[in-house]
Amino acid sequence: MIDIVNLNKTFSNKVEAVKDFSLSVEKGEVISLIGPSGSGKSTVLRCIAGLETPDSGEILINGKTIDFANEKEAQKQRIIMGFVFQHFNLFANMTVMQNLTVAPVNVQGKSEEEARRLAMKYLKRVGLEDKADEFPSKLSGGQQQRVAIARALCMNPEIMLFDEPTSALDPEMIKEVLNVIRGLVDDGMTMIIVSHEMNFAREISDRIAFLENGRIIETGTPDYIFNSTENRRVKAFLDKVL
Ligand SMILES: Nc1ncnc2c1ncn2[C@@H]1O[C@H](COP(=O)(O)OP(=O)(O)OP(=O)(O)O)[C@@H](O)[C@H]1O
Ligand SMILES: [Mg+2]
Repeated sequence: MIDIVNLNKTFSNKVEAVKDFSLSVEKGEVISLIGPSGSGKSTVLRCIAGLETPDSGEILINGKTIDFANEKEAQKQRIIMGFVFQHFNLFANMTVMQNLTVAPVNVQGKSEEEARRLAMKYLKRVGLEDKADEFPSKLSGGQQQRVAIARALCMNPEIMLFDEPTSALDPEMIKEVLNVIRGLVDDGMTMIIVSHEMNFAREISDRIAFLENGRIIETGTPDYIFNSTENRRVKAFLDKVL
């Protein structure tokens, strides 16, 4: 579904954030990116999301290369992706319902009624059907993040990208967000997820890729990564965080 081929990204301060990074994600696959702080996990996701432009390399969506120079066409190709980042970025001046319906109506051309119907479906899905008319500031962090997930789902994505969706949350709220993500996995959603929740990554992933200095230095099933790898740097990292 998504192929990333030899991606490179160096920032203006000469930091080589992503180096020769390749990864293919098949339909229905759940892939976790793990690795130390600064290893390039977010930059990879931001390149896929179109928030950064890589210096070289290719990103293909369903076999078609994204033309980074053609912003409009690139945006159309990216419509199959939903993004949820650490900070929820909900529109503060809109109700939850308005947050969920604005893009389906204005970007996808759905009727207001259809958009509201979808919004209620996904609010139920994340357990917040009673919050449709609240403003984001009235919600807890965990609730806001669940709204952000519902908002992404309202665009009917084929793949969801998560960058540390729980790392800004208090411990008691982490579980409710992970449960929502787990539900999406159970439904067969394709996913790339960056998470510091190692046990969660281990439980839900088909494949885990370990990044260091912008490269994948080890990849395999959760069982392989957690139990069998001989890679010393991976083992040292896991020893530290588990
Ligand atoms: N906009 C930017 N300008 C300059 N350097 C950047 C920028 N964004 C990221 N970097 C640098 O690129 C490298 C990779 O950063 P990135 O945020 O992708 O790492 P990460 O693996 O997501 O880390 P963390 O686990 O802390 O979120 C780091 O050295 C970082 O300082
Ligand atoms: Mg990051």
